[in-house]
Amino acid sequence: MSIRVDDSFLDSAGATDELAADARAGLTSTAKSLPPRWFYDARGSELFEQITDLPEYYPTRTETQILQAHAGDIAAAAPVETVIELGSGSSTKTQLLLDAWQRTGTLRRVITLDVSASALAEAAVALSARYPTVEVQPVRADFTRHLDGLAKSGRTAVVFLGSTIGNLDPAERAAFFGAVRSALDPGDVLLLGTDLVKPAEILVPAYDDAAGITAAFNLNVLQVLNRELGGDLPIEAFDHRAVWNPADERIEMRLRAGREIRARLDRIGLDVHFDAGEELLTEISSKFRRDGITAELAMAGLNLTHWWTDPAGYFALSLSQ
Ligand code: SAH
Ligand code: AVI
Repeated sequence: MSIRVDDSFLDSAGATDELAADARAGLTSTAKSLPPRWFYDARGSELFEQITDLPEYYPTRTETQILQAHAGDIAAAAPVETVIELGSGSSTKTQLLLDAWQRTGTLRRVITLDVSASALAEAAVALSARYPTVEVQPVRADFTRHLDGLAKSGRTAVVFLGSTIGNLDPAERAAFFGAVRSALDPGDVLLLGTDLVKPAEILVPAYDDAAGITAAFNLNVLQVLNRELGGDLPIEAFDHRAVWNPADERIEMRLRAGREIRARLDRIGLDVHFDAGEELLTEISSKFRRDGITAELAMAGLNLTHWWTDPAGYFALSLSQ
């Protein structure tokens, strides 16, 4: 069985145009960077799923524990008809929530929104099989741009798990929370997963695992550039780096050129130059404190009403109205 992914917001041609624009801006500036959404082609989505099983990568299993303990409380606090999951990926943890919402008897539809067509298609098959009476609508879209176009109906929960919010910088988070706030009506909620600040000895290995899966995930963005933009970036010449930035309380994933590199993205006529040792910032993964995220939500008009965490205080789920 396959379910049609709605690509009216973002199709493959549009995504390639946006990648071209991001590559042009991000690879020619003095401090090179790329937005993290470009990790997630089919291989990147698969590598992310492997990351979630790594012993060092505590966020997924910790958020799962919190959901196992509190999905019933969440469903009781917000008995919704529609669930909109942003950055849904495999929607595996989401099933704990959907089970609970089914028990409340209110759930009618689930909209999954992601940039990864492969992740959306696979998850839609699994969700439709598990919830035959629920309408499953996979939408390929960018959660930083397309929230206002979503056709929402009935009381709604916007669900954003995994601490993907941490992959946005503070200005992007403010814009994102503002867009979520505009999309919500009274009675609707935002369920947000946030990874919490903890010692660097725990954080760094989570982003630089012994098996090298996170390194492969990071380096995969170079393969995406080469394939989509006709590039010849020498992937073997780059090293994966995961650095804790204590001032901004975030992990920064970077790719460091091991030697001077001259490459070309032929399809867009772009010459790319790296000095030996120069780094490309590929992702920030911000870590949060309760006061800080409460204030960020409040600035956008979102009132945090519930906060659930694990016994070690590694991760939190919050509900806002
Ligand atoms: N929610 C899942 C997956 C997290 S991985 C979990 O908690 O395990 C991050 C997901 O967000 C990926 O599936 C990726 O494709 C998606 N994503 C990244 N940037 C995005 C963007 N700008 N818009 C929509 N989806 C995005
Ligand atoms: C999706 N996002 C929240 C993950 C994170 O932890 O920032 C992506 C990831 N990057 C490296 N490992 C996992």
